[in-house]
Amino acid sequence: MNRGKLVIGNWKMNPEGSGFASKIFKAIAQKKPRNPRVELVICPPFVYLKTLSKLSKKVVLGAQNIYFETSGAYTGEVSAGMVYDAGARYVILGHSERRAMGESDKDINRKVKTAISEGLKPVLCVGEKERDKNHEYFKVIENQLEEALDGIFKTNVESIVIAYEPVWAIGKEAAREATPEEFREISVLIRKFINDKFGRKNAMSVKILYGGSVNTKNAELFITEGEADGFLVGRASLKPERFLEIFKFAGSEKRK
Ligand code: PGA
Repeated sequence: MNRGKLVIGNWKMNPEGSGFASKIFKAIAQKKPRNPRVELVICPPFVYLKTLSKLSKKVVLGAQNIYFETSGAYTGEVSAGMVYDAGARYVILGHSERRAMGESDKDINRKVKTAISEGLKPVLCVGEKERDKNHEYFKVIENQLEEALDGIFKTNVESIVIAYEPVWAIGKEAAREATPEEFREISVLIRKFINDKFGRKNAMSVKILYGGSVNTKNAELFITEGEADGFLVGRASLKPERFLEIFKFAGSEKRK
């Protein structure tokens, strides 16, 4: 099934200053090759969304988080409606760095529901902290999916993207990258979960991305061997040339 591809850059708490953010964003937008089968999304810090939304329509914007309430006395929080208004169309939810700050599966579930009702596409991150010989990590991922997608209507699953991000493969301190085979095994598990809970049509159409030290050397194999539907990219998304090379690899054809 041709699901189309998606490459998302997660800028995290970078770069320092809106001038620098605009420069990186423009470099990506200007040099982005035309490929209607691969969508390119950048998720900058909230405060840059509005400025970047005015620079180019070639790159779609996303947020890195939202609060689950729509408005009210929640000091320091930002709502789904606010980020939508600032230009975001996607939102990363359940990222391991937010889970590490105390975000619970229940919070993530509420955020997924709020995002959908406000017209944002959730990019739900799942992934185990470590791997064990007994495959307990399968259960970890199933539990994350079960809790995050609890009470979601079948008809809303089409707006959800799932990113498999093994925590041990993320960031500068990563133990190692995952392999395309490891990714494929988990994407089969995710599709089976979606099939059992939301039906075959949703299972076949949901996009499953790989995230965790994606770079110009490993990206192609995750597409051709791992059959990933795209990537959630951290560090490399702040380097326009590297990010665009990863974008090009996302358009590679699977090996027959
Ligand atoms: P990384 O981050 O590509 O820098 O490992 C990935 C992520 O946290 O989404």
